[in-house]
Amino acid sequence: GIMRDVSGINEMEERLKKELNLQEVVIVPGDSDETPWVKQELGRACAKRMKKRLVGENIIAVAGGTTMAAVADMLTFDFIGNTNTLFVPARGGIGEDVKNEANSICAKMAENTGCKHRVLYVPDQVSKEVYDSFVKEPIIKEVLSLIKKANMVLHGIGDANVMAERRNTKEEDMKIIQDGHAVGEAFGYYFNEAGEVVHKVPTVGLKLDDFSHIEHVLAVAGGSSKAKAIKACMKSATNSTVLITDEGAAKKILS
Ligand code: G3H
Repeated sequence: GIMRDVSGINEMEERLKKELNLQEVVIVPGDSDETPWVKQELGRACAKRMKKRLVGENIIAVAGGTTMAAVADMLTFDFIGNTNTLFVPARGGIGEDVKNEANSICAKMAENTGCKHRVLYVPDQVSKEVYDSFVKEPIIKEVLSLIKKANMVLHGIGDANVMAERRNTKEEDMKIIQDGHAVGEAFGYYFNEAGEVVHKVPTVGLKLDDFSHIEHVLAVAGGSSKAKAIKACMKSATNSTVLITDEGAAKKILS
């Protein structure tokens, strides 16, 4: 194993918690930009915090991305204990590949823990008419109402440009993201350096305003290349948010 400079990391966690005004910050050693398995460690750290917080009935809303996929990989059958836990996607389609999609990650989390999950298949780029009638479908409405009852949210944070490129964003939205100087992205919201929303991918599910009512919000993102993005996204975070990050990102944010 890697030697962890415990006191150094603990001190950094305290500093970052103050700097970002969060309830808790967890830092894993290394930089996931340079060392791919550090992302697995982020996943492990998130799984551990989830376990600590889950009791009784839970609905966990999960966003997409490769970091969330790493969290899913770290969940096991003994993880949920005797809780009654359901996984739901935080929001409908936001242009990700199937493997990075919240639906797929929820399915994996449910499979690995022996829990149930629900899916939310909302087509990505349809006319307003189709969209409006779609969200009136009973099955969609039912899943949406479950999402609104979530007591835990898990989400990643991405660099705005990286995410916009990865998601085949429409030219006009690309322009909004660039002109708005977005630096960070989380659950389909793009934030500028001041933490203001400059663009949101039009879909259904959790809204930023809903976060203030959610007891446990776990944001998981690492790599020094995400420092700006993390800082921006954490500006709009409620102070009940727990940030799970790595040394690479933490050092860059604090420097
Ligand atoms: O929504 C996706 C996240 O913002 C970042 O994705 O974990 O693949 O970097 P990632």
